[in-house]
Amino acid sequence: KTIYLKDYTPAPYRVGHVNLSFTLFEDKTIVKSEVQYIKTADATSGDLVLNGQDQVVTAVEMDGIRFDGYTITAHEMTIKDAGEKFTLTITSEIDPASNTALEGLYKSQGSYCTQCEAEGFRRITYFQDRPDVLSTFSVRIEADKHKYPVLLSNGNLVDTGDLAHGRHFTAWNDPFPKPCYLFALVAGNLVRIEDSFQTMSGRQVALHIYVRAGDEQQCDHAMQSLKKAMKWDEEKYGREYQLDLFNIVAVSDFNMGAMENTSLNIFNTKLVLAHQETATDTDFDSVEAVIGHEYFHNWTGNRVTCRDWFQLSLKEGLTVFRDQEFSADMSSRAVKRIDDVDQLRRLQFSEDASPLAHAVQPDNFIEISNFYTTTVYEKGAELIRMQHTLLGQETYRKAADLYFERYDGHAVTCNDFVQCMADASGRDMSQFFLWYKQAGTPTLKASGQYNAAQQQYTLSLTQSQPDTAGQADKKPLHIPVAVGLLDALGNETHATQILEMTAREQSFTFDHVPSRPVPSILRGFSAPVKLTTDLSDDDLRLLQLKDTDGFNKWESGQTLALRNIERVMADATADISQFVDDFGIIIEQAIAGVGDKALLARALTLPTIAVIAQTQTVIDPAAIDQARTHILKSIKRAHKDALARLYDDNANTGTFSVSPAAMGRRALQNVALELLTVTNGKGCAARAKAHYDGANNMTDRVAALACLSDSTQPERELVFADFYERFKAYQLVVDKWFTLQAMANRPAIFDDFAKLRQHHEFNIKNPNRVRSLYSAFALNNPVQFHHPSGQGYAILRDAIIELNAINPQIASRLVTPLREWKRYTPVLQTQMQDALQAIMNTPNLSNDVFELVSKSLKG
Ligand code: ARG
Ligand code: ZN
Repeated sequence: KTIYLKDYTPAPYRVGHVNLSFTLFEDKTIVKSEVQYIKTADATSGDLVLNGQDQVVTAVEMDGIRFDGYTITAHEMTIKDAGEKFTLTITSEIDPASNTALEGLYKSQGSYCTQCEAEGFRRITYFQDRPDVLSTFSVRIEADKHKYPVLLSNGNLVDTGDLAHGRHFTAWNDPFPKPCYLFALVAGNLVRIEDSFQTMSGRQVALHIYVRAGDEQQCDHAMQSLKKAMKWDEEKYGREYQLDLFNIVAVSDFNMGAMENTSLNIFNTKLVLAHQETATDTDFDSVEAVIGHEYFHNWTGNRVTCRDWFQLSLKEGLTVFRDQEFSADMSSRAVKRIDDVDQLRRLQFSEDASPLAHAVQPDNFIEISNFYTTTVYEKGAELIRMQHTLLGQETYRKAADLYFERYDGHAVTCNDFVQCMADASGRDMSQFFLWYKQAGTPTLKASGQYNAAQQQYTLSLTQSQPDTAGQADKKPLHIPVAVGLLDALGNETHATQILEMTAREQSFTFDHVPSRPVPSILRGFSAPVKLTTDLSDDDLRLLQLKDTDGFNKWESGQTLALRNIERVMADATADISQFVDDFGIIIEQAIAGVGDKALLARALTLPTIAVIAQTQTVIDPAAIDQARTHILKSIKRAHKDALARLYDDNANTGTFSVSPAAMGRRALQNVALELLTVTNGKGCAARAKAHYDGANNMTDRVAALACLSDSTQPERELVFADFYERFKAYQLVVDKWFTLQAMANRPAIFDDFAKLRQHHEFNIKNPNRVRSLYSAFALNNPVQFHHPSGQGYAILRDAIIELNAINPQIASRLVTPLREWKRYTPVLQTQMQDALQAIMNTPNLSNDVFELVSKSLKG
């Protein structure tokens, strides 16, 4: 059943207070909910309709008296003309141990935990499960004390005590009204790491991180990140934390990354645990970013929440923007921007180019879980970033203050947020709002004209937005285009200006331009568009060496790389010597130690196949890989000695640190290693093995394994075996072991894959393990996944069908690599379509999988 934004109506009943009691037994959990309902003035019907599923109701009372005037269907309980004001008490039984969907209350490695967003609360008890019903909660949890010594819920601990038969209880109260998707419960045998934070008004907040015994050595980075995030939100947004306690719990079985439940954030272990021996630099950065993200939700999501799920980007787009800025402030802004844009192009542009393209504020869905997408999150963040650019930091901050002041304690819409931007700035943001409504990646064409006599430079811009499923003839968008001008020597003559494009075609004239300039367009990637320019290779080379904008410096090099890859794809003997020589200049700069090493590492990295694919009209992964590899090998041949020097100069110094400088050094050395081993010969394998043997951290080990994964040399098996033996006690590292093998671009991959699938450590019920094998293969091994035999598609198809019955959310995520089927070569297209059709023909498809597969096929 499709749900439409236009059908929104307010809830007929308001909820005063929710009193929940959980009695946990091994074979079942008894949930008793006592809820005060008050009919609202705008209620169009007196019927109370509660969402609920997968539970057995054992008793219902109205105002304390046994009540049976309700009807129950598969997903609802209805009470006709329920009354003006009453208390409804429902007792039901659920079975968390058999809950493999990991929504609602479930068990993970012996502990109970919850995931209620978006619609998991209805698996716990009957309730109006919608984000605009806000209420205070009190919660009592009772369980065996020995097995579950830790019993947590939201808010403040108000009572605790022992009971008969070795049982105990805790009682919690959350005084701030919240929607039920922010409810959380944890019961388990966990250890706790403690710290505290003093807020700007001087209050002390206790900070607790709960993990399994043995993992406590891996929590320090998460704790430091939390304290930095709390401070950052005070400084940048003036937002203070309101409760005396902030808990984080790490669990091994989790559908997503983490969840912002009020004062009881629940995390995937992958985004909490980090130690140099077991986590890469990327992992350390993700932990910091996601700890920040969930903490920032306290204000953007929890205190101000969403009216309905079509407004998901209200909290997610804004909170991603906030976590991106937090990370940028903690390390290198340009590097962070490069990595974020790279991800946007790889995942969000591909979503936009597929039949699953949807607006940041979608207008319909079948299953909301399918809309936790890169469009809602990452493109949503770009929309906030553009508003920040248009208003400027100071006015943006005023608008944010206004937003919190107006809407604290309310459930609101994306329109309400943009209206605050309009009100605080006095600007008309109505055209800007089209960004929320129109799907698809806009294209922006730029061409320049220099008039020497007038000393004027005119930049002509043209925008368009492609038709997408159900949307044609889109209106022009309000696009902030950040532009600066350089002269022929590379001096910046005109600093960054924000050109505001509002028409389909528009020209902007710069005065006092003494000579033909080179424009640096879309600095910092000021809008999420596909830009094409009339810049020559020489113009791009100048920008690559001289631009003052770190992002565009990198971007120019990437554009040159793309142009050369195109040339080789069109003609395998094309002359790429200029590009290869220029690469040498960057290597020399890196050796000379000019500039930020993390940035240099990115400058020395060619666009990935996935990013290149987004520039192609017809995608042929094998052809892209061939051209790309040809260029990489040419670079290695031309610059072998310089690369070896770069590698040696950036050798491990012994002491480990996660400072941006240390991470930059490792990134640069590992890029040199990657280029040096691209030919996969004997020497390459020996070099990679030496790197592995000398490593004192996971970043270097993973880099070495990645260089060996395609190899046929004996070192490959030796190193992979050592890695497994060394780290088999660490689930998150075993995930990496699966991933690195699933990404191997070599003929043996299909045999390897079958063995990995049968490996005793593979577990289809654990989402991290599924991702480590299947997502790694389908998304990060494009050549083998898109093997013309169709074997890759068959692997994914079977996994989706198997998971559909176990965990629909995870099954549905796995559809992603097939959604763009129409863009591939005819042979691949047919095979991808067949795989989708086979899934479609499977009986008992979940809503999740049905929605994505049927929409993908319909196109
Ligand atoms: N709100 C969470 C976050 O962004 C994501 C939870 C989504 N969960 C889900 N099952 N769809 O941090
Ligand atoms: Zn979020």
